[in-house]
Amino acid sequence: MIHSRIAGTGSYLPEKILTNADLEKMVDTSDEWIRSRTGIERRHIAVDGQTTVDLAEQAARRAIEAAGITPAEVDFIAFGTTTPDLVFPNCGVLLQQRLGCRGVPAFSVETACAGFMYALSIADKYVRCGEAKRALVIGAETLSRMTDWSDRGTAVLFADGAGAVVLEPSAAPGVLSTHLHADGVYKDLLYCGSGVSRGFEPKLVITMSGNEVFKIAVTKLGQAVDEALAANGLTKEALDWLVPHQANIRIIQAMARRLDMPMEKVIVTVQEHGNTSAASVPLALDVAVRDGRIKRGELLLLEAFGGGFTWGSALVRY
Ligand code: UT7
Repeated sequence: MIHSRIAGTGSYLPEKILTNADLEKMVDTSDEWIRSRTGIERRHIAVDGQTTVDLAEQAARRAIEAAGITPAEVDFIAFGTTTPDLVFPNCGVLLQQRLGCRGVPAFSVETACAGFMYALSIADKYVRCGEAKRALVIGAETLSRMTDWSDRGTAVLFADGAGAVVLEPSAAPGVLSTHLHADGVYKDLLYCGSGVSRGFEPKLVITMSGNEVFKIAVTKLGQAVDEALAANGLTKEALDWLVPHQANIRIIQAMARRLDMPMEKVIVTVQEHGNTSAASVPLALDVAVRDGRIKRGELLLLEAFGGGFTWGSALVRY
């Protein structure tokens, strides 16, 4: 039986930094409020002209190098993003053109903050059935492009970045399971109201009922981590690392409590880049792989939750 395993990881944050002190000058907020309520200290913002695919290309090249392959050898691209460069071609195709792997399937999925989890789940299945051998999975966003910089409820949270992994076939299990969910009943709690078919509002902005999103995220993610462990016949003690969606330190702490994991076993990068949506999980994963915390053979639980609502988990033997 063929499994998929993570062969390499990569990430990229744009150079321009927006601090909490900078935001204090833009909206009625404070560094103290942002740190204590979200854990965020700074975020990275793409400069004018720097696009989602620009960020993704940097992350992808790093993941490809870490996997020990060349860009031309990539044979499948699954790209999670809610902030595409163009309506079409999709970001997967735009990235494929830059990498030079012509002819291979390339697509994007727009499942908000769960975009990487959905892309990973699809790519895993293509590798496992033998149709892809070097699958590039991306999560990349330029959320700053649709942030309402006059809304303190969202402006302090969202930002830009990219993360990537390369999946390859393996005799031993790497990705043990993925579980995806969506519930459109909650669409009005977190959304961007503009679209091609519906028409563009005067402002292209994220609208969020933060506190309600918070509570449902904690509940749904809690169920998702239980589901991932149960599906694999594992208990929480088996986990080496939690690699959570980096939206809010308090949601991350709630997941750690549910799993009885000390925060030393939880990868937290939200302070560095805020909520980068689909980029958040692969970004955090890459940071912890590169700084040597996550080692080969360890068991990781990845999870993310976003607009829709959409959410999902992956249990991974790294
Ligand atoms: O990744 C996709 C999923 N998204 C998320 O996971 C985000 C989930 N939500 C959250 O992270 C949190 O709900 C927020 C960080 C957005 C807000 O934190 P909260 O603890 O839920 O605060 P709240 O919305 O209940 O607001 C508490 C107070 C309010 O003031 P009053 O009514 O008590 O006077 C807000 O107006 O905090 C106020 N407030 C702020 N104050 C200073 C809201 N935003 C700010 C701000 N600075 N930026």
